Amino acid sequence: MFHKKNIVLGVTGGIAAYKALELLRLFQKNRANVFVIMTKNACEFVAPLSFEALSKNCVYIDTFNQKDSNSIKHIELAQLADIVVIAPATANIIAKFAHGIADDLLTTFMLATKSKKLICPAMNEGMYENSITQKNIQSLKDNGFYVLNPDKGELACQDIGRGRLPELDYIVHKTAYLLNKKDLKGKKILITAGPTQEAIDPVRFITNHSSGKTGYFIAEVAQRRGADVTLISGKTSLKKPYDIKLINVISADDMLKEVLNNIASVDVIIKVAAVADYKPVKCAKNKIKKKEEKLNLSLTKTKDILKEIDKKKGQLVIGFAAETTEIKKNAQKKLKEKKLDMIVANKVGKNLSFGTDESKVTFIYKDGTIKEMPLMEKEKVADAILDNILILPK
Ligand code: CTP
Repeated sequence: MFHKKNIVLGVTGGIAAYKALELLRLFQKNRANVFVIMTKNACEFVAPLSFEALSKNCVYIDTFNQKDSNSIKHIELAQLADIVVIAPATANIIAKFAHGIADDLLTTFMLATKSKKLICPAMNEGMYENSITQKNIQSLKDNGFYVLNPDKGELACQDIGRGRLPELDYIVHKTAYLLNKKDLKGKKILITAGPTQEAIDPVRFITNHSSGKTGYFIAEVAQRRGADVTLISGKTSLKKPYDIKLINVISADDMLKEVLNNIASVDVIIKVAAVADYKPVKCAKNKIKKKEEKLNLSLTKTKDILKEIDKKKGQLVIGFAAETTEIKKNAQKKLKEKKLDMIVANKVGKNLSFGTDESKVTFIYKDGTIKEMPLMEKEKVADAILDNILILPK
């Protein structure tokens, strides 16, 4: 997510300062190089050594007292930063930024840097709602800063209100969004993901091993690249991706209904979902009791959603082919039968693709071209699939 990106994490003196340690870890987990600047007040809440140990970089606090003469100076830091994230941002630091005050390293750095700036406020609700703070926040926005709304909940003073540091995953998401190119801006993309469940009785169903990960990654990455994303998802254990429209469905019939409801307004359809091909002829009204040695279930075909799609508006349609044998041959057949522009073929089975973080896929295009992709993380696979939207003819 942040490969080769330099993030400067500014930590100011609020009770939420300890959460910045976890934020630093999340940035690093996603491969960012993180430099930490702390205000003197922040050091009253968390020891700089904790940030230093985690970031493996020197922590910057005082302009005139930098102990390591080889460390990067604040102006160099200002130049190398791709983005600066202030978390937590107190009312005091917001006021200083808004008025161009430069009386310590963090404020001096902020005036000097031309990088993107993400402010994550955390304070008492009264301080946040104070018209002076609100005017300062507006002034930051007017000057190109991106300012998150604090979360609602229990505050350090034990009041319930708006003032909590936004969720760390949300801060990471916004940071990635701000850093990403927006080459899919203006595109409306409909993605289906996850397995469907076909009810046998009120407590049982037929399903498959799909985790939904690939579809969710495609939705997240597309949003980050500026697309307007609708995700229609079967049941998964995945967290809802931020800033997209999520429609939850259960069965193949529900998924078909929602795809048809949403298709008219989109430019691209990416069908990653592992839709059940068969469903019980009827769902028993009550729980089926254990009686005979054998139980026969009568199944009937579900509708093939891709075949039901009418490309009235000339949408680009990308399908998936999950195969255990004759991958390319089967995928080519599906590409033709389902009138797709492109199909993403992958081998599935025990320990393969389902639920894993990596996958090896092959792109097969309408004109017969075949592109073998290397084994990649699913997030990279998502990027590679989305790249096709920019080059494929409709
Ligand atoms: N698909 C669909 N509706 C279905 C079944 C599948 O839209 N009822 C879509 C999937 O979302 C995927 C593509 O068709 O994009 C291929 O799905 P897959 O399960 O690999 O193939 P099937 O067509 O179901 O054929 P088979 O199960 O025989 O391989």
